[in-house]
Amino acid sequence: MTSTFSIRPARTGDVAAIKKLVAPLAERRILMAKETVAYYESLQEFKIAEAPDGGVIGCGALHVMWEDLAEVRTLAADGEWRGKGVGHALVETLLEEARALGVARVFCLTFEVDFFKRHGFEVMADQTAVDPQVYSELLRSHDEGVAEFLDLARVKPNTLGNTRMIKFL
Ligand SMILES: CC(C)(COP(=O)(O)OP(=O)(O)OC[C@H]1O[C@@H](n2cnc3c(N)ncnc32)[C@H](O)[C@@H]1OP(=O)(O)O)[C@@H](O)C(=O)NCCC(=O)NCCS
Repeated sequence: MTSTFSIRPARTGDVAAIKKLVAPLAERRILMAKETVAYYESLQEFKIAEAPDGGVIGCGALHVMWEDLAEVRTLAADGEWRGKGVGHALVETLLEEARALGVARVFCLTFEVDFFKRHGFEVMADQTAVDPQVYSELLRSHDEGVAEFLDLARVKPNTLGNTRMIKFL
C-alpha cells in the first residue's frame, strides 16, 4: 500500500492543506484547532503523506517536550484514504524521528486507542510519567499540548473523552 503514497517533511506550502485536514476534526473536538501562525512556527515538526498526484492526504507532527519525552500530535488522514496505511506510515515515521532525536517515550492524547495500541502505545495507568521536578519545569511551557499532557484543569474541557497513551521506544 505504501507504494501508492509517500511520506515527506512538510513545506510552508502545505499549511493550507494541513489546516483543511484538521478543520473538520477540530470542529468535532477530535484534534486541537490552532492559529495559522502556529502551523508555520511548528512546520519542521510535521510530516506529510502525499498522494501520487501530489495532493496532501495526511499529516502528523512530533513535538519534543523534554529530554526523554515527545508527543505525536495533529495526526490526520484524509477521509477517502482512511484504512489504507496512511496513519500507520505517518506514525512509524514520527517514531523513527523520535528515536533519532534521542527521545525514550512518546505520548499521545487520542480517541483512536486501538490504532495507537497497534503501534505499541499503552493507556497511561497514572500521571507519574514525569517526576515532580520535570513537572514543575513543564508547567512553564506556553504550549497547549503540554498543558494537556500535564492534565491541567484549564484544558480539561478540551480533552474530555480522550485517552492518554504512551509508548516506550
Ligand atoms: C488515526 C488516523 C490518523 C488513522 O489513519 P488511517 O490512515 O486510517 O490509519 P491506517 O490505515 O494506517 O490504519 C487504520 C486501520 O486500517 C487498517 N489497514 C488497512 N490497510 C492498511 C495498511 N496498508 N497498513 C496499515 N494498516 C492498514 C489497519 O488494520 C488499521 O486498523 P486499526 O485502526 O485497528 O489499527 C485517522 O483515523 C484519523 O485521521 N483520525 C482522526 C484524527 C485523530 O484522532 N488523530 C489521532 C490523535 S493525534
